[in-house]
Formats: sequence, structure tokens, C-alpha cells
Amino acid sequence: MSDRDPRPTRRHIVVLFIDIVGSTELAERLDPELLLRILDRYYAACRTEIFEHGGAVEKYIGDAVMAVFGVPVSREDDALRAVLAADAAMSAVRRLSAEIAPTHGVRLDAHCGIAFGEVMVADGSGSNVRVIGDAVNTASRLQSAAGAGEILLGDDVARLVRQHALLDGVPPLTLKGKRDPVRAWRLIAVEPDRGGPETDTIPLIGRTEELHQLTRFHDRAARDRQCCMATLLGVPGIGKSRLVREFLTNLPEDVTVLTGRCPSYGIGATYRPITELLEALNGEWPALAEAVGTEGARALRGLACLGDADYEDTPGVAEIAQAVRSLFEVLARDRPLVVVLDNLQWAEPTLLDLIEDCAAWLADVPVLLVCVARPELYEARPSWGGGMTCAMSLELGPMSPPHMTRLVAELRAERADVVAHDDDGTYQRVIHGSDGNPLFAELMLETLAEGAVALPPTIQALLGARLDRLGGAERHMLERAATIGQSFTVEQLETLFDGEPPLTATPLRRLQRDRLIRRGALLGSYEFTQTLTRETVYALTSKEVRADWHRRLADWFGDRAADASDDAPFAGSASGDVSRHLLAACRLTRQVRPGDPLLPELTDRAADRLIRDGGQALHRRDLPAAIALLEQGREMLPPGRDEHRSLAVRISDAKLARGEAVAAAAALDRAEELLPEDPRNRLTCVIQREVLALRSGARAPELESLRGRLALDPRDDLSWCRFHQLQALIHIEDGRFGAADRALRDGLERARPMGDRYEEDRLLGGLCELVQWSSTPVPEGLALCAGLLARFAGDRALLVPVLLTRARLLALSGDLGGARESLDTAGHYAEELHLGLSAIAVVQVRGLVESLDGNHEVARGLFTRAAAALRAAGHGGSAATLEVYAARETLRRGDVRQAAGELARSEAGVPQLRGELTAIVMRGAIASLNGAHADAVSAAERATALLESTDDPCLQGDVLVEIARIQRAAGRDPAEAARRALDAYLSKGASLPARRVRDWMKGLS
Ligand SMILES: Nc1ncnc2c1ncn2[C@@H]1O[C@H](COP(=O)(O)OP(=O)(O)OP(=O)(O)O)[C@@H](O)[C@H]1O
Ligand SMILES: [Mg+2]
Repeated sequence: MSDRDPRPTRRHIVVLFIDIVGSTELAERLDPELLLRILDRYYAACRTEIFEHGGAVEKYIGDAVMAVFGVPVSREDDALRAVLAADAAMSAVRRLSAEIAPTHGVRLDAHCGIAFGEVMVADGSGSNVRVIGDAVNTASRLQSAAGAGEILLGDDVARLVRQHALLDGVPPLTLKGKRDPVRAWRLIAVEPDRGGPETDTIPLIGRTEELHQLTRFHDRAARDRQCCMATLLGVPGIGKSRLVREFLTNLPEDVTVLTGRCPSYGIGATYRPITELLEALNGEWPALAEAVGTEGARALRGLACLGDADYEDTPGVAEIAQAVRSLFEVLARDRPLVVVLDNLQWAEPTLLDLIEDCAAWLADVPVLLVCVARPELYEARPSWGGGMTCAMSLELGPMSPPHMTRLVAELRAERADVVAHDDDGTYQRVIHGSDGNPLFAELMLETLAEGAVALPPTIQALLGARLDRLGGAERHMLERAATIGQSFTVEQLETLFDGEPPLTATPLRRLQRDRLIRRGALLGSYEFTQTLTRETVYALTSKEVRADWHRRLADWFGDRAADASDDAPFAGSASGDVSRHLLAACRLTRQVRPGDPLLPELTDRAADRLIRDGGQALHRRDLPAAIALLEQGREMLPPGRDEHRSLAVRISDAKLARGEAVAAAAALDRAEELLPEDPRNRLTCVIQREVLALRSGARAPELESLRGRLALDPRDDLSWCRFHQLQALIHIEDGRFGAADRALRDGLERARPMGDRYEEDRLLGGLCELVQWSSTPVPEGLALCAGLLARFAGDRALLVPVLLTRARLLALSGDLGGARESLDTAGHYAEELHLGLSAIAVVQVRGLVESLDGNHEVARGLFTRAAAALRAAGHGGSAATLEVYAARETLRRGDVRQAAGELARSEAGVPQLRGELTAIVMRGAIASLNGAHADAVSAAERATALLESTDDPCLQGDVLVEIARIQRAAGRDPAEAARRALDAYLSKGASLPARRVRDWMKGLS
């Protein structure tokens, strides 16, 4: 097949025209031979650039060169290629001009136009292309309209390259042969690659000791291959971020550096700094995803679309922490890793937990965590950094007067344009008046240099004064930028300008020159150089205007679907942005225009979004963020709305789970204020208050009167649902597991029609735990487990309790191998996710399995271990039960004396019914073995009486078996006790212990 396709094709391409300005004049002034040589070099330069950027030269028209991009094949970045080629060709022309100007006394200038559009292409291969279409004319006209040295882009091209280029809108052009004026843009600059971080312009002054400490600390982490955490503290502007920058530039080449910053806004934006540091890894994502494993990759990927992800896809906090840890581990395997987390004073508690967890658990890898914060961090977390093996904390104090003198001298030298006059008195005032704060000094210097006599007394005021002196365009730009956030893009800025396309390039350049902003790490992004500048600009911007901008930004972020690709999942992810802007828009509108007709709708949207985000946070068990989001949502939601009821319940659940019982009750009070006179709400609150009371150790309430009230409104599903949960709680306390099981199932019947995933998950989780003790038969219990394993598949923290239940049920049914397998998985998850209590539960269930398998010595060891761990964690009640179980294993092993000794501890009583019953019957068994049959029988009788209070079939079976043995040893008839034990086991489907009883009974006859 020939690669020439003779048929003309219709396609979208980019057309570029470049031409020499004033060539007739050149021809007049230069000898034709010389002109030809110059023009040849000009053509060659253009050709080279066009070719190197993947374009084809279509033809020469006079001195003009016409090139096309997108022939024979179009590429998605044709427009960018054309712009880069034009930019490079123009530079080449400038160089050529500079070269000939001194010798030949002429300047060479070119101008250029670029357009995009649909054309017909004939002979579309290689050098011999013919292109016909409107884009050709437009490009040619744009080129004519461009001034010397200018590149003009058509509107389409501008849109295609905006991410990578600085553009200035020009007034619409009336072009020859065109009916309507054409929109065009002047290219200011184009940067195809990410703009590297801008470097500091003056050297670091002082701080040698601090720098040394940081460096030594890093060396230690690298040398000993351990994770170390350095915390850097100091007031705003004192130089924390600057010191870290210096430290980073001095690091050896092979160190990987990741940086994340906490925003001062954005409630619930727990993981924002983590997504920021992930952004830098986009390029390596596919390889990293493989290295961190399926769960890790899933959790990290989930972070990128938090807020947009389905509820089910939200990874839990433990999953996220583990994923981040394994990411660091993978990154640090071959070379040291430094992770900088700046502005931690604004971190959510869950993020602080994550960082501490990393510092405590990352082992055998060289990682340095650099935590940068204002001193408020310690207010939020007084224990920060405590108890870590490798941690240090550094407080940056004021700089000394000699250092300030040097700083001022450097600033003077470097900013000679701003700081014009040479007045020593001024400098002395700065050196002594800036409290050793370099930012303060910078601002004072500038202010004084501009002729100010009086100086505002604080940094903030000084910064405000400086901002007031900015030009209008710059100030407008900065105010918009501050509303967007610490970092922002040109595209975002432009959405905040009305009407005509704004002249973004020039003010941005000026702001960059003044170092108020700098290029950000992501392509096309900028950021505030100083955290404090953003805060100040924001505070000084009119609330009315901010309200409007926040609203537009919420729309902008909302429209932008989560379009992250699998190759670059973290590019500019927008978690929480919509809610944050909506919330701010509402608050500000309420303050300045409470009667605004748009306000109700806006408020609804904000409340919806916050409540949704809060639900997600609750689902991943990020309780502090969940509480914050749900409470904000509640305050946005107008009083009288039904949602207040379910919100109150959730907030109070979350607070209770955090051990804040009083606050949990306050959430209910608030609901009653917001829904006064609402009988359903009142009832739900009454029920939830009983739950709170019960959890704080109060006596169980009278259920009948509650039931009477509920009966008046049979369709009040939420109240009923919560009532059944209360019932279940009471039954569990009393050891009536069958009843508790039924109550939870009744609750589920209520939750399902509400479509309330939260209530359903709670109930199912409870039900699954209960299945171990309730009369629900093993096969049914296993089916429930299977359903939950599928339902919670994405969150291993939720899977662990299900796997434990499954292990126990499998063991009872005789499948000991399956039980062990389930336990191995649970143990692995619990360990990976640092789920301390779950890990203890795994040991405990292992004990049960080994006991059922007859490995009593092993079982004893496991129970003892679990008991000790539980005691250490403050769960004395459960620990006491396990100690009794351990003693029972000793006895089963045949060591009566030792068992008696071990049991002595429980003499004072065991709080849990299970433990108490077992202890009583054990004492009976020991007495029996020692020949004290009367004592043994009386213990058996006591146990029999106590058995009435539980309906746990396995507990009944276990106790009855012991009673039967005691009776037999005492010469009584054990048949009835044995039969009852057998019946209990069989009703549960516990075939393994049932078989044992049956065998024992056979031995009797
Ligand atoms: N030792 C130093 N030598 C030279 N310049 C410094 C030094 N310390 C700080 N600066 C300059 O002072 C300004 C403020 O410093 P920086 O941004 O590091 O403050 P910060 O402590 O991080 O404040 P914030 O808490 O607001 O983030 C910056 O322009 C920085 O370059
Ligand atoms: Mg800083």
C-alpha cells in the first residue's frame, strides 16, 4: 500500500503563518544577495522549529511561511505544538536580528498568526500538502494584524493552549474578508513543561544551627533506615517555609521529596495535603499502584475523588492510613524520602493521627517527616510528637539584630528598583522595628521606601497597607485568587471576571515580579508566596463580592466532573471544594444580603453538599470531620426540615463513639430547637437519649411506655428503627442474644424502606457480631457473613469483625481449617491497618478454635495473651472472662492444681455473665475432681439457676456439659443435663461440640 492517499480528506488542523515585518523596506536597504542570505537563515530557522514540533511547511508566500499541524495525523496537542513552534521561531528571528543589527544596521522582526479549524487536506502525506479552508484565511489575517514580534491566536487555539500559556485578550479584530469581528489573543508566554518552583532571590540568612539540625536528622533517618519526625514551629512570617526550602535544596540528588499543605479553609478536607503530595506522583502512578497493592491503590485512588465517589467506594480511615504508609514504604525502599507537611496548624485531627501513625510504624525505611506549623498546633494536639523514638521539635525564634542587618542589606541590594533611596535611618528603623521577623522586615522596607512616615504596628496591618498600594488590576486579580485558595489557576481566575476576557497576563506577571505569587507545582497553577498574604487579602476583600465569587467557584468545581484518568488520578483533584465554596457563599451572603432571593436555594445546596460529605466522612469513620461537616450542614439547613432528625442521630452517634457523651446529648437538644413541636423528632430524641444513658452505665429504661408512644405512629420508621436498636442493646446487656437478634432484624425492616445505608450498615454489623452468641443457626450466620463480606469488600476494617464471626461459626460446624484461614485473613488485616482491639479479638477467637480442636495448651496461651492485652487497653471486664477461659484450658489439659490457682483470681466475681457462669462451673468441676462432690453439685445447681438468664446456646451447652460431668462423678444421673447440652448445640448447628457430647453420652451407656 502506498503511504500517499490521493483522496482529499476533511479534518481539523492548526494553521500557522509567520512573516517578516516591513520586508519592502529591508529590500530597499539591503543588497539583494545579502537579503537572500538573511532570508535563507530565517526560513531555515522557521522550518527547523516547525519540523521539530511536528508540523509541516505547506508553502512559502513571499516572505511568509505557512505551516500546518495535524497532517497527516492529528494529535491532541497540535495547537500547543504550533504555539511552541511559533514561539521558538520568533526567538530564532530575534537572535538573527540581534546578530545582524550591529553589522548591517537593520532589524529583523516577524509576526505570526495561528488558527484552528476544519479544512480539506489534499495529498496529505509528507511535504506536498494542500490545505483549503477558513482556518487558513483566519491564520493569515491574524498574522497581518499582529504587531512586530507578536503572535496572535484565534479563539479556538487560545482555548486549547490556555493551560500552558499566558495570554492577553485583544479587542476583537475586524479582519479583511470576514463578516464578524474575530476574537483573538496575544501570546505572552508558553511553558510546555511544568514550571519548576521559583527559587528564592536572596540567600538564607542565619538559621545555620536549625538547618544543621534538620540535615543531621535527615542523615540519621537515612543512615539508620528509620522514620523520623521533625516538627518546625514558629509564628507567621518567621521563616519556617523558607528554612524548609533551603533544607530541601541542599539534600542529595537521590532523595525523593513530597510536599503537602493544609488549607486554612475547607472543613472536612482531611486529606487535602495527601492528595497534594500525590499530585507530584501522577507520572509514576501506574507503577506505584502496582507496588502498593490492590487495596492501597484503591484507597489512594479513592482520595482523588472524595466528594464525587460513591458512598460505597469511600475507603475507611484505617485503609487510607495504611495506603499512605505503604506508599511511603515503597518510595523509600531504594532511596530516602522526605515528606514535608506545611501549615499543620490547620490539619484535621484525623490527618494528625495519620502522620503520627506513620512516624510510629514505618520501619526499616529512611523517611523524614517534616511537620511545619504555627504554635497553635500544640493547642489542637498537646501531645504532638510525644512517645516517638525518633522525633525532634524546633522552634524558630526571632532573628538576631546582626542577621536582620544582613537580611535588610540583601533585600536592599536585590530590590534596588523598589528600594530606591539610600537612607540609613530607614534601614535602622526596619532592623530594630521588625521584631526579628523577616516577613515583617520585608514589608516595612517596602513601605518605608515608598515614602511612608508612620508604620502600621502589626504584620497584618502592614501587609494590608501594602496591598492597598497595588495597582487596580493587580489588586482585583489578587482578591479573586485569594478567594480561590492558596493556589489557583488562570482558568479559575477567569471564571471570576465578568464580560470581556480579562487581561490576565500582565497583572499576573506583576504580582509574580512583586513576589506576592509564584508559579505552583502543577502546570498552569500559581500560589501565594506567603500564607499570610492570602489570609490578609481574603479578609480585606468585600464580603459581598466574595459571596458572589464563592458561588461561581462552587459551580465551576461542580461542573468539572471528576475527570481524572487512570494514568494521572491526582491531577488537581477537587475534594471538598464544592462544599467549601458553597458554605462560604452562604455565610457571606447571609451576612451582607440576608434578603437575597438566591439565598434559600444556595443554602439548600450548601447544606445538601455538606451533609453528603459528612455522610461520606462518617462512612470512612473520619469522625471529627464527619461531626464538623454534619454540624455545618445542620446549621445551613433551614429549621423545620425533616433531615434534622437523622442528622441529630448521626452527630450524636459520632460524638458518642468519640467518647463525648455530653456533646452527643447536645446534638439532640439542637434538633429539638430546630424541629420544635415535631412529635416524631421528639420521640427519636427520647429514644436516642436512652441509648446515651445506657452507654454511660445507667439502668435500662422502661420500654413499654416508649412502645406505647411509637404505636401511635406506626410509620415513623426512624424512631422505630432506633427503638429496636435500643431494645437490642438492653437485651445484649442482659445476655438475651436471641431477643437482641430479633430486635436488630426488626430494626433492619425499618431501615430498608428508608433507604438509609447508614442505619443498615450499623444494624448489619451488630447482627453479625451477635450471630456468634445468638440462636441463629450456623448456616444462616455464615450466609449473613458472606453477604457482609461482599458488602464491605472495599474496607478491610469493616471486614475484620465479620471474618471473626465467620471463623467462630466455621469452627463450631467442624471446619477448623476454614476457621483458621478466616482468622489468618482477619489477623493480617488487623495488623496491616493497626486495628489494635481487632488484633486482640483475633487472638481470642484463635483460642476458641484451638480449644475446639483439643489443643488446650495452645488455647491457654492465646487466651492469656488476649486477656493481658485487653487489660492493658482498659477492658477489664472482657479480660476477666478470658482469664477464666484460660484456666478452663489448664483444667482440660488435666492440671487441676494449677487451674484452681488460676481461677482463684476470679473469686471476687467476673462482670460478664459468660465469665461468671464459666467460673462457677469450673470451680464445681475442680471440686468434683478433688472428690468434694457435695460442693461440686451445689456449684452445678448455682450454674443451672444462672443459665436461665442467657439464651446463648453454646454457652448453655458448654456449661451443661460440665454440669453433666459433675453429676456423673457425684453418682447422679447426668442424662438430662447432657441431653439439654446436646439440644442446645444442635439448635445452633454447632456440630463439632454436639458430636463430642454424643460420644460422651454413648460412653455412659
Ligand atoms: N532566614 C531567612 N533568610 C532570608 N529570608 C528569609 C529568612 N526567613 C524568612 N525569610 C523570608 O521571609 C518571608 C517569610 O518567611 P516564610 O514564608 O518562611 O514564613 P513562615 O514562617 O512560613 O510563615 P507562615 O506561618 O505564614 O507560613 C519569606 O519571604 C522568606 O523568604
Ligand atoms: Mg509558611
